[in-house]
Amino acid sequence: MSDINSLLRDNIRKLIPYASARDEFSGSAHIFLDANENSLGSPISPAYNRYPDPHQVKIKERLTQIKGLPPKHIFLGNGSDECIDLLYRAFCNPGKDNVIIHPPTYGMYEVSAHIHGVDVRRAPLTVNFELDLEVLEGLVDEQTKIIWICSPNNPTGNALNRQQIETILNNFDGLVVIDEAYINFSRNQSFIQELTEYPNLVILQTLSKAWGLAGLRLGMAFASELIIDILNRIKPPYNIGQATQELVLMALQETTRVNEMIKEIVRMRNELAEKISRLSSVSRVYPSDANFLLVRIKEARRIYEILINKGIVVRDRSSAPGCQDCLRITVGTKEQNDKLLETLTQITIS
Ligand SMILES: Cc1ncc(COP(=O)(O)O)c(C=O)c1O
Repeated sequence: MSDINSLLRDNIRKLIPYASARDEFSGSAHIFLDANENSLGSPISPAYNRYPDPHQVKIKERLTQIKGLPPKHIFLGNGSDECIDLLYRAFCNPGKDNVIIHPPTYGMYEVSAHIHGVDVRRAPLTVNFELDLEVLEGLVDEQTKIIWICSPNNPTGNALNRQQIETILNNFDGLVVIDEAYINFSRNQSFIQELTEYPNLVILQTLSKAWGLAGLRLGMAFASELIIDILNRIKPPYNIGQATQELVLMALQETTRVNEMIKEIVRMRNELAEKISRLSSVSRVYPSDANFLLVRIKEARRIYEILINKGIVVRDRSSAPGCQDCLRITVGTKEQNDKLLETLTQITIS
């Protein structure tokens, strides 16, 4: 059984957190002269002269209804990227600790490690983009603080084998972070139900993908009360702005619309995969549990550049391990997908 406190950095264990004006007084009053805000208001309407709720209570209450998890198990960040950054700050000693990633995967686990001076060890996914537990086991040592698992994985699109993830959870005492940014597009279930069993499990989700709110910046971490408490102690006090909090709260009422969009994207993804796989230059369209496709195509770089010249931007992932000649293509609108297919067909024929 993991002892989360023993994983913490010493300086974080001893930290006396910043107490904001909103922390020190939370009752009802009508004259607020405690936070050095502009008492005259804002130059725009509605006014944003007051600091936002540092604990985002209303959003967490709504998320409790949607996710079935009490607020004490929910942390909100300025995108999942902030949650990733804070996990390093809390648990990884620069120049001493290491983390493990499974390339090809989402780039911020590594970039954030470099920012924090933390060593990154790589257990590449197999040729079928599954976890390689033997390689992983050989990399773990006393200083391994986090194993990052991205499922469904970016850029490969597949959900990773659940039993293998459970094996990691059952055998590793550091933090296991499962990034579920694309979970809403997957046939596989979230690991949220597993939180009660594993005190070292952290699940990341985001409103940037299925919820269609990338511009608002709202990431979620779900974990044991202890881990959530640590993240709350070290975060910048007002990390989610007032406008974001208001708009997110409105959006979280729209579950029906979001579910419709998810269904539509999944339907278009499957159709796009089928049509792209018929192109003669395409050797493989990888199975996707996400809102994008990884496509292995002859002369990927040249095709990428032709697409750009036609005003269509996809991602060339050819330099990622195991992804030679691969483009990552986000599912677009029907018109955008048709245009992409038409352009790809023309390139392939000429
Ligand atoms: C796997 C994964 N995690 C996290 C993110 C970033 O999420 P956010 O917009 O919440 O910072 C992305 C964005 O592409 C992603 O692919």
